Amino acid sequence: MDNSFITKFEYGAMLYENPRGVGCIKCHGKGNKAVVIARYKEKDKKTKKLVEKKIIAPAISNVSFKDFVDKLKSDKTESKVMPTYFLTTEEMKSLYYYIKNIK
Ligand code: HEC
Repeated sequence: MDNSFITKFEYGAMLYENPRGVGCIKCHGKGNKAVVIARYKEKDKKTKKLVEKKIIAPAISNVSFKDFVDKLKSDKTESKVMPTYFLTTEEMKSLYYYIKNIK
């Protein structure tokens, strides 16, 4: 793809918001801190009391590029929450660059 008309940062921003799937931004926010994406109550098997549970999208600005790629290539079955994406290496590089540089 010829993307010389936009900067790497802008391209990464575009992918972060619209990566051919649910935007990363919807769960990870700015990526620099953990985000609670859902809260629910579940009955504890032993105590029979309702306990509050949370689903958290972790901060992603400090993961290594290798872990980042591993995560994005992982199959849906490995995560019950995060969707599976089909991004090229170039796209993952731009995304990673963007996440490292969001203010
Ligand atoms: C529907 C919510 C959701 C969306 C959308 C989402 N994620 Fe996630 N992500 C999660 C959750 C929850 C985790 C925690 C581990 C798990 O459940 O997979 C996670 C984990 C990660 C991790 C691993 C962090 C670590 O500490 O190892 C990375 C990297 C990541 N996400 C990047 C992305 C990127 C990049 C996108 C967009 C292409 C994205 N995520 C979209 C919910 C989401």
